[in-house]
Amino acid sequence: MEISSAFICLLLSFTTFVTLGSCHNLPENHVALFIFGDSLFDPGNNNYINTTTDFQANFIPYGETFFKYPTGRFSDGRLIPDFIAQFAGLPIIPTYLKPGKHKFTDGVNFASGGAGALVESHQGFVVDLETQIKYFKRVEKSLRQELGDAEAKKLLSKAVYMISVGGNDYLTKNSNASQEEFASMVLGNLTVALKEIYKKGGRKFGFSNMIPLGCLPYMKAQSGGPCDDEVTAIAKFHNARLPKTLDKLKKELQGFKYSLYNIYQSINERLSNPSKYGFKNATTACCGSGPYGGIYSCGGKRGVTEYDLCDNPADFFFFDSYHPSEKAYRQFAEMMWSGTNDIVRPYNLKTLFEDEASSIHHPNIVNEL
Ligand SMILES: *[C@@H]1O[C@H](CO)[C@@H](O)[C@H](O)[C@H]1NC(C)=O
Ligand SMILES: *[C@@H]1O[C@H](CO)[C@@H](O)[C@H](O)[C@H]1NC(C)=O
Ligand SMILES: *[C@@H]1O[C@H](CO)[C@@H](O)[C@H](O)[C@H]1NC(C)=O
Ligand SMILES: *[C@@H]1O[C@H](CO)[C@@H](O)[C@H](O)[C@H]1NC(C)=O
Repeated sequence: MEISSAFICLLLSFTTFVTLGSCHNLPENHVALFIFGDSLFDPGNNNYINTTTDFQANFIPYGETFFKYPTGRFSDGRLIPDFIAQFAGLPIIPTYLKPGKHKFTDGVNFASGGAGALVESHQGFVVDLETQIKYFKRVEKSLRQELGDAEAKKLLSKAVYMISVGGNDYLTKNSNASQEEFASMVLGNLTVALKEIYKKGGRKFGFSNMIPLGCLPYMKAQSGGPCDDEVTAIAKFHNARLPKTLDKLKKELQGFKYSLYNIYQSINERLSNPSKYGFKNATTACCGSGPYGGIYSCGGKRGVTEYDLCDNPADFFFFDSYHPSEKAYRQFAEMMWSGTNDIVRPYNLKTLFEDEASSIHHPNIVNEL
């Protein structure tokens, strides 16, 4: 891709005397993907921070299915953002903290396993949301230097921003705040982050609601199974509030558009009817130990060295004690991308990505998006 566009630029500059500067212009329908959040989206940022193996997945058997090496993703293969990038015709989105020079024009991934919306969640071991936003601002600056203010602004306002956050806040809640107060803090801090992105031009946002936290193998092992309903109740509470928060933002921020995927429902359907979705086992993690594979020992580097590993991760809904398998992630990504209104609303991600493509013929719409 890079070679051919460079070649076309060269060709153009020979034949029509366009300045090389204009070769920085991206195709009119180019839509970048920026990613924030926690381990559901982390492609390996935590490989490069001072943390512990509890917050890392850069050892075997992580990554065994697709990448054939442990990239740092908390699964056997690809995660939701990897599939979304693929569906959108983008390459794998670069990992922000990975050393080396990055090209940011396709977007970048800031997500950090263990991170929450609150700085207190796993503080000192993860890149919290506020810091991820700080890094995003650095990227914005570098894009302006590379492309010029106008072109950078255009890229940022056409881009899609995906965020997965909140689970770690609820799982580590140790304050006396009521459920209501705590959810307000989580959503309040999420709102602050969204407004920062909006200020830099971001308009199109992709979210999932909260997963049924009490049904993670880790939580099931803690409570003795089948699911910890008390923990799941917190997720339900969050899910009742999230659409209201987003609709409020939509009223406040002109042009703010979002896609909200009901991952909670998708997971419940798969846990109660695994075979319908091609899973042989949705009770136990493919990789881990103890009841339900709920001891977080996958890879043997988190204190417990012994662990079980299944033969075929695609038979399992859960890869480790906290995280779905690549097969489950692919199913979620497909619904986020092109699902109908009963599972993703008010728009699916495909619609958000294509929004700008249609505006090529109606350039005035750009400002209204
Ligand atoms: C990394 O973290 C550990 C424990 O939190 C701390 O003792 C150590 O000084 C840190 N190292 C660096 C380079 O920051
Ligand atoms: C929560 O309340 C208990 C008892 O009322 C108190 O001992 C504790 O310090 C409080 N914890 C926090 C984080 O405020
Ligand atoms: C953000 O979280 C902090 C706790 O980390 C809390 O004190 C603050 O009120 C929250 N901000 C908003 C806007 O809710
Ligand atoms: C799931 O896998 C675990 C571990 O291999 C096994 O103990 C359990 O019986 C399996 N459950 C189903 C429904 O196959």
